[in-house]
Parts: sequence; C-alpha cells; structure tokens
Amino acid sequence: MNDMRAVERDVDTNDLKITARGVDVFYGDTHAIKDVDVDIVDNTVTAFIGPSGCGKSTFLRCLNRMNDTIDVARVEGSIMLDGEDIYDPKVDPVQLRAKVGMVFQKPNPFPKSIYDNVAYGPRIHGLAKDKAALDEIVEKSLRRAALWDEAKDRLDQPGTGLSGGQQQRLCIARAVATNPEVLLMDEPCSALDPIATAQIEELIDELRSRYSVVIVTHSMQQAARVSQKTAFFHLGELVEFGETGHIFTNPSDPRTESYITGRIG
Ligand SMILES: Nc1ncnc2c1ncn2[C@@H]1O[C@H](COP(=O)(O)OP(=O)(O)OP(=O)(O)O)[C@@H](O)[C@H]1O
Ligand SMILES: [Mg+2]
Repeated sequence: MNDMRAVERDVDTNDLKITARGVDVFYGDTHAIKDVDVDIVDNTVTAFIGPSGCGKSTFLRCLNRMNDTIDVARVEGSIMLDGEDIYDPKVDPVQLRAKVGMVFQKPNPFPKSIYDNVAYGPRIHGLAKDKAALDEIVEKSLRRAALWDEAKDRLDQPGTGLSGGQQQRLCIARAVATNPEVLLMDEPCSALDPIATAQIEELIDELRSRYSVVIVTHSMQQAARVSQKTAFFHLGELVEFGETGHIFTNPSDPRTESYITGRIG
C-alpha cells in the first residue's frame, strides 16, 4: 500500500463502517478508479470532491454495488462493510442496497403516492407486519427527512407533485425507510435552490447521528459545511483524504490546493 496515502490512522477501528482497499474500476478499457483506499467512519459525513470526470460517482457506486448495473463496469479490490466483503457472491445486492441507501442528483420519486414511495422498500423487504406498522415506518421516515409536516395531509397524492426540494427529501425518506446504515448521496442538492439546499444540509447533519453519510459535491462550501472528512479525487486517483478542516486549510498535495483554490476543476 502506498504510504503517501493519507488514510486516517488515528480512528478506533471499531468506528470504521466501510474499508475500501486497492479499489480499481474499469469501464471497458477506461481505468476510472485507480488503486483507491478509503475508510468511512461511522456517524460521520464524508465528502468526495474533485473535478468533473475524476471518478467520484464511480467510486460512490462501488459502495453499494450500483456499478453492477452497468454492463461494461468491472470493480476490483476489496470493500468491507462491518468487516464483511460486499462483493462476496453470497451477498444479495438488493439487501446490500437496503443497508447502504442512495440518493441521486436529480430527485427521482417513483410515479406513486408519497406514502407508497416511502413504503416501497419496507414492503419488498417485509419490514412491517401490518398496516399500522407500515404507517409508523412511513411517518418516522418522513419525520427523519424533515418532510412530515408538509406531507402528512397529502400522503395519497403523487410524490412527483412535490417541489424539487420536497421531492429530494422524499427520496431521503425512501432511503431511510429500510433502516440503512450508510447513506450515499451523489450531488443531492445540485437541482435545488439555496433554501432547499440549506434544509438538506441541516438534515444531513442530523442524519449523521444515526448513519454514516457519504456525499459527492461540487460545492467546496458545502463540503466544508457538512462534512468531517473529505476525500479529493483527481483523474481516478484518491489524492488526499483526511479531516475536512485540514484539507481545506492546509492540504498536503499541490493538486488539492489548486482545486480548492479554484485553479483546476
Ligand atoms: N457508464 C459509464 N460507461 C463508461 N464510462 C463511464 C461510465 N460512467 C462514468 N464513466 C467514465 O468514468 C470516469 C469517471 O466518471 P464519474 O461519473 O465517476 O466522474 P465524476 O467525478 O462523478 O464526474 P462529475 O463530477 O461530472 O459527476 C469518466 O471518465 C467517465 O467518462
Ligand atoms: Mg458524478
């Protein structure tokens, strides 16, 4: 392993939720992720930053095997969740994605009611024994996503009828409804206005008390506001990874400094 790599060594290994080691991703002949090591710490927000095309989304998708759905993608290396290899053939990717939930750039509610959007995961995973239990999960998830007050009187109306920011919170409610342990968010605020963005950022900070959150963002301000750890990617490599405050005030690598000061990207 490359000693220059700034994987944090000072955390108690009990706090490690995900450990990725020597991860490579190929799309056909394109080598999109090159020998990346990352530790995701529990109850922590980790930001992935870097110029467009550097591999942030590709690496994020490795963490819940979403790259499985891309025919030409090939993932190598090891990714452990709570010490278990998520690429083991025994692991069911659908179960894995309930544990490692994902929120995308563009809010993508199902063409169903608000209630059914949130109830979808719990139903397919058999998490509720009856209607009352399902109602409870739906309410709890919408509350956790800070959408309950706006949605409680219109649960039977289509999720697509909500505003963009509300739709994104609905997608967060849908993701938390299956009791995930990790939430992956790929530029979750890029389609939102500043007020909705501020709401989602506040929510991310609250979600951290229960989950590990990994967020891809193009906004350095957002990374600085919401995350405790930051990983800077460049051309498929993980250039630098460490405490967010440190990365933004005293980066070790000139490429990180160029990016955060706006010279590359
Ligand atoms: N489905 C795919 N098929 C082939 N190549 C892909 C695919 N998805 C991504 N790539 C390539 O992999 C590299 C990394 O892309 P990725 O989408 O991970 O970057 P990113 O850092 O998320 O960029 P952005 O900030 O623009 O979202 C790029 O060269 C991209 O063209
Ligand atoms: Mg991306």
